[in-house]
Amino acid sequence: MLLNLYSESLKDSQIFIVDDEPVNLKLIERILKTEGYTALTTITEPHRVVEEFLNVRPQLIMLDINMPGLNGFEVIQQLQNIDNVELPPIVFLTAQNDHSYRTKAFECGVLDFICKPFNRLELLSRVKNLLALESAHHELSARNNSLEAAVEKRTEDLRKTQVQVVQKLGRAAEFRDNETGAHLLRMSNISALIAKHFNFNDEEVQNILYASPMHDVGKIAIPDHILLKPGKFEPEEWEIMKTHTTLGYDILNSDESALLRLASEIALYHHEKWNGTGYPYQLAEEYIPISCRIVAVADVFDALTSKRPYKKAWSVQDAHEFINEQSNQHFDPKIIKIFNKVFPQIIEIRDRYLDEDTEIGYSNMNKITVPEKLAAVAN
Ligand SMILES: [Fe+2]
Ligand SMILES: [Fe+2]
Repeated sequence: MLLNLYSESLKDSQIFIVDDEPVNLKLIERILKTEGYTALTTITEPHRVVEEFLNVRPQLIMLDINMPGLNGFEVIQQLQNIDNVELPPIVFLTAQNDHSYRTKAFECGVLDFICKPFNRLELLSRVKNLLALESAHHELSARNNSLEAAVEKRTEDLRKTQVQVVQKLGRAAEFRDNETGAHLLRMSNISALIAKHFNFNDEEVQNILYASPMHDVGKIAIPDHILLKPGKFEPEEWEIMKTHTTLGYDILNSDESALLRLASEIALYHHEKWNGTGYPYQLAEEYIPISCRIVAVADVFDALTSKRPYKKAWSVQDAHEFINEQSNQHFDPKIIKIFNKVFPQIIEIRDRYLDEDTEIGYSNMNKITVPEKLAAVAN
């Protein structure tokens, strides 16, 4: 759409006319009024310009140069010192034609000159052009702002949609698995807490919060007779069970979304171990993405302390001890350091999202041996 440069509404623009000679003020005022301009402020004392400016916010300032007290350059300086203010066009009213002097004025931000003695047509043309310029500038920046706001809103909507999609996928996996919604809430919040203390920025922390509940989404594609088997897996069943990592990656992988990319990474590597004995690729140490090393600790801790059909919940003390025993084995020791540091907050998260039938502080450690514990959290 074309900008309407010369609309009649420009005649209502606020115009400042600053000159210590009342005769000049009267003359300019008469010329402009005759032409239909309505909002004119005449100022004879230059030191009042800033104060008036803050009250009126004009769209054009016509400024004499040689005035007692403050000259035109000094008035401009004062206006420029006001914080967070965009100045309107300033035009000098001058009898001087000197080149270097005009250059200085341009450098100070003066946009144009109106020569004394005033020529009516010249004065009207310059005022009209400068007001049109100011109005076009405003219209453009208003359009830019509204475009920026629209883009921001679209981006936010897109992000909300992505978050909803990954949350729904997580729910879908939940229906087919023993893991409860509360487990997903706890492990994702614990993951985000650790990430925050690992110096992830706010957006990265949010991403890990929303992406980590998808870690087992690949279980959707595991046959029921394996996924829901109550006893131990046969070796070939175990091999199929392990594919929930690569299946999850295939389901989630997307070039378009950083959130889905992270979710697919977590799905793929959340069973890798620091010592290289995990699956599917036996990655070790820093070869395992940091997000997955974080999620591994949060997921195992919460799985240990949760009740499952095949096991009772461990006490938080026993789980804490076990996680520490696995530092440098299953888990990255740097993450374990943070895990220990934020342990009181981890317990707060656990208490906030309790399973309905979880018994707080329940310890079943005496009845379960360590290899059984490992089997209990392995899948
Ligand atoms: Fe898993
Ligand atoms: Fe889990």
